[in-house]
Amino acid sequence: MVFDIYTLVEAIWLILPAYAANGLTPLIGLCKNLHPIDGGRKLWGQPLFGEGKTWEGLIFGTLIGGLIGMVEMLAYPYLPFGISPEPLNIVPMSLLLGLVLGLGAMLGDLGGSFIKRRLRIARGRPAPILDQEDFLVGALLFSLLLVSLEWDWVVLLAVITPVIHVTANILGYLLKVKKQPW
Ligand code: CTP
Ligand code: MG
Repeated sequence: MVFDIYTLVEAIWLILPAYAANGLTPLIGLCKNLHPIDGGRKLWGQPLFGEGKTWEGLIFGTLIGGLIGMVEMLAYPYLPFGISPEPLNIVPMSLLLGLVLGLGAMLGDLGGSFIKRRLRIARGRPAPILDQEDFLVGALLFSLLLVSLEWDWVVLLAVITPVIHVTANILGYLLKVKKQPW
């Protein structure tokens, strides 16, 4: 079954470093003198990626992924996965897998911005679905370097990620942490 609690626990366990990377990288935007990855270069009259994609963000997101991967690895022995009536397929988490998930998320997000600029959507303007799924695609593709994925996880994550994303953004907007509700 795709939509059961076991699949949910397994999938969230795997993707947490990528969620953290994607969710916390906007904090980098509070810093000054950042270095855009495209260095101001353009393609077809539009920025290659745009000012919102910086080297600092890419590195920060990757490190956040690594940090969460390490925290999960250290927490694993203390978590009650054993009480599950069905044996769970919990991916062995590590610093390396966290870094790979974080980097994959950031590169997926970069790819999303590349597509947005080609569609002439300005930096920070919404692109439904793409804005929510780009980092997920990158993270899952990169995770294949170290993990065998179950299709159930991919389907479930593709469905719940936009829902979580939209809920978190609306909350952030209501709490005045975010300027736009997307
Ligand atoms: N960010 C960054 N470097 C990255 C990714 C994100 O510095 N590689 C920071 C930027 O401050 C960015 C913010 O995180 O504005 C939010 O990221 P995102 O919503 O992906 O970027 P947008 O500014 O909305 O730009 P785009 O339209 O390209 O998605
Ligand atoms: Mg955005």
